[in-house]
Amino acid sequence: MKYLWSGRFKEDLDELAKRFTFSISLDKNLAVFDVAGSIVHAEMLVRQKIIPRKDGKKIISGLKKIEGEIRRNQFVFKPDDEDIHTAIERRLTELIGPVAGKLHTARSRNDQIILDEKLYLKRIIPEIRSVIILLQKTLVNKAEECIEIFFPELTHFQPAQPVLFSHHLLAYVCMLERDKTRLSDTLNRINISPLGACACAGTSFKIDPVYIAKKLGFDDVFTNSVDVVSDRDFIMETVSNLGILMIHLSRMAEELILWHSSLIGFVDLPEEFCTGSSIMPQKKNPDVLELIRGKASVVLGSIVGMFSLMKGLPLSYNRDLQEDKRFLFESCEIAHLSTLIISRIIEKTKINVVDMSMACKHGYMEATDIAEFLTTKGIPFRESHYIVGNLVKKAIEKKLPLNELDELTIEKITKCKAAVKFVKSLSPEKSIRLKSSHGSTSPSFVKKEIEKWKIILK
Ligand code: ARG
Repeated sequence: MKYLWSGRFKEDLDELAKRFTFSISLDKNLAVFDVAGSIVHAEMLVRQKIIPRKDGKKIISGLKKIEGEIRRNQFVFKPDDEDIHTAIERRLTELIGPVAGKLHTARSRNDQIILDEKLYLKRIIPEIRSVIILLQKTLVNKAEECIEIFFPELTHFQPAQPVLFSHHLLAYVCMLERDKTRLSDTLNRINISPLGACACAGTSFKIDPVYIAKKLGFDDVFTNSVDVVSDRDFIMETVSNLGILMIHLSRMAEELILWHSSLIGFVDLPEEFCTGSSIMPQKKNPDVLELIRGKASVVLGSIVGMFSLMKGLPLSYNRDLQEDKRFLFESCEIAHLSTLIISRIIEKTKINVVDMSMACKHGYMEATDIAEFLTTKGIPFRESHYIVGNLVKKAIEKKLPLNELDELTIEKITKCKAAVKFVKSLSPEKSIRLKSSHGSTSPSFVKKEIEKWKIILK
């Protein structure tokens, strides 16, 4: 009996077909979870009197030995091990003889693989969540350190309005919070045990899927065997969530890359996360951040890959599904590492306070404040907007910032005496202080937000 399924075959599997169908190189990652699931399955078979207690004991002690071998990295894979399930059953047979063959009673690799993948995700998603929390904490700490620093907020990559740099940093904390909740939502749906669905129809044995679910830490059991073995929504969801997370990280990476460029110069990235050039001695390139941006594409590719795998696939199990692992594992690894790395980078990045604050003085960023001021004097906002547009036009002509226009010009254009004093008193700091709305860059609101996040992330 060469393979688990050899009985009805006369011919051996073609060598090319073997290379093409075997998935062991990928599902090796699932070894510990496969053994954990098998131990509980064997316990259940004994409790339900489906296999004799003494056989169950042998199976479980063999599986525990295998578990040790896997943990010590001593488990040896053989050329005929088609997948992780086969490898473990083959080793179990070597250890305890033909009684190992009883383990697969009332189980199929179709429900087993889902169990392994779900156990993997129940481990990895909380790990990813915890690095997201670490990154959020790093951002909140930076926001607290930077509470006095002004930042030229852009729209269309053009100077828009000054904000507290802390406010900008907290935007990422909000984005990451959504990433976390998306992963938690997905985890709730993952938390349903698939074991007992068998190949697709269930089984004639009196199994106890609830026992298995409880022992393996699942909240509930499946209700439809066909759905379970066909379902990979939980992988589509996970890679989608990780794709959104990676988009957030790549936007953050992109901003840091731009800010670090000597053309902008708002930050100085830590040398430990930069590399030089083999030809240009002056270079300190942000390669690590560029790779976070680059690897985000790999995760986005996995979303497309995973969704294409599912589209139009008839129920129930099809071998196509085996390809899900490459998308899942690679996305999880990239997301985990990228989140951790960007957190370290941000922690060690130096903010160039003077350049950042000086940049708020260019680009007429206080224009909207003047329009709002005129509006408080009874001028309809549309008209105020037009008037301030004229003021900006004049300032551009004279190559002056708005607050350096002479009083007469200001009064003539605005037709408002009070506006003269207001325009003259404008500064990035004042512009920020003027904001008072909910969720704005108002310093008191931002300080409250920092305190709020500190409590949430504790
Ligand atoms: N290796 C398969 C997978 O990853 C699981 C085994 C199911 N194989 C089968 N021929 N029914 O999806």
